[in-house]
Amino acid sequence: MDSELKCFWMAFAFACILGLANGQQLKGNQEDPCKTKSRVVADETYCDRYWECVNGQPELYDCPNGLVFAGKNRGVTEGCDYPWRSNYCDSKQQANTPLGTEHCDWLYGIFGHETSCTRYWTCWNGTATEQLCIGGLLYNERSHSCDWPENV
Ligand SMILES: *[C@@H]1O[C@H](CO)[C@@H](O)[C@H](O)[C@H]1NC(C)=O
Repeated sequence: MDSELKCFWMAFAFACILGLANGQQLKGNQEDPCKTKSRVVADETYCDRYWECVNGQPELYDCPNGLVFAGKNRGVTEGCDYPWRSNYCDSKQQANTPLGTEHCDWLYGIFGHETSCTRYWTCWNGTATEQLCIGGLLYNERSHSCDWPENV
């Protein structure tokens, strides 16, 4: 083999090793995001994880803490949403555990107030903002929003 050819094969082998080290293995029936048009698919086991095709390789991602995968360009962040907004987790569990801060059970979410029925907290990356229900409405824990008193 002349040295130019040797060099070519070494570069090829090196690129292959890099390619294998990159990306995660798809297990079981997990859909390959690189074989879809959207390049993003839900994880088959956990509702707060998803796979994205990055540089031709499937990569596993977690939604921001407290959010679950909703689909490409859906939800409150790019692809992730509040779990109660739909039946995202009916048949799947969440992989992540709550990372709470003051007033926030999870880093992202909407949570009831400790002492008031007309107030609640919206949490964004662990930062809580106090919200107020007006016009005689009360915070509804189930819908995570202000509601008529007879529904709460
Ligand atoms: C969330 O907050 C942490 C520190 O509290 C910060 O390091 C991180 O960059 C923030 N993430 C986002 C997406 O804003």
